[in-house]
Amino acid sequence: MTDIKDMDPAQVAGDYREFTLRYHDGKQRKVLVTEMEAPYPDGRLIVSCADPQGVITHANQSFVDMSGYREDEIIGARHYILRHPDMPPAAFKDLWVAVQGGKKWQGYVKDLRKDGGFYWVYATVIPNVRNGAAVGYTSVRRKPSRNKAQEAEALYPTLF
Ligand SMILES: Cc1cc2nc3c(=O)[nH]c(=O)nc-3n(C[C@H](O)[C@H](O)[C@H](O)COP(=O)(O)O)c2cc1C
Repeated sequence: MTDIKDMDPAQVAGDYREFTLRYHDGKQRKVLVTEMEAPYPDGRLIVSCADPQGVITHANQSFVDMSGYREDEIIGARHYILRHPDMPPAAFKDLWVAVQGGKKWQGYVKDLRKDGGFYWVYATVIPNVRNGAAVGYTSVRRKPSRNKAQEAEALYPTLF
């Protein structure tokens, strides 16, 4: 598994705010966040797979393009590389309870790019179950409707 590094100001486009995120495994990193939204392209799905520990094992070209990371930075990283400070932890608790319980989870997620910008997705995360055990997880993300992304943008700050 690759170690998580602080975000690099040289990679960030424009003015940014700085946050320190602490992740579930005790690691932390400094993230630099701008107000620059990358619009979700029409007709594309952002797909990634993770092993049972949540380490990314596969990411498609749309994942690479939207996140701004190179493929070799993504494979072996954890999905929290995309965690945006505006996302309430409760959303991810809900996600993990669902998929570890063998159920799918769907929700609106604001993802953080390598350049400090963000993009909204509508994610469906499913456990890949073999002989009753989760052998990994897959997330397929679609373009969210404008209204739903705006609703989530208004709701999520109230969930902290
Ligand atoms: C298949 C899969 C896809 C995920 N996709 C994302 C994602 O796009 N953005 C994100 O912030 N977290 C995603 N997560 C959740 C992260 O694993 C993590 O729980 C979240 O970023 C919050 O970090 P924390 O659990 O360390 O607090 C995904 C998890 C799984 C299993």
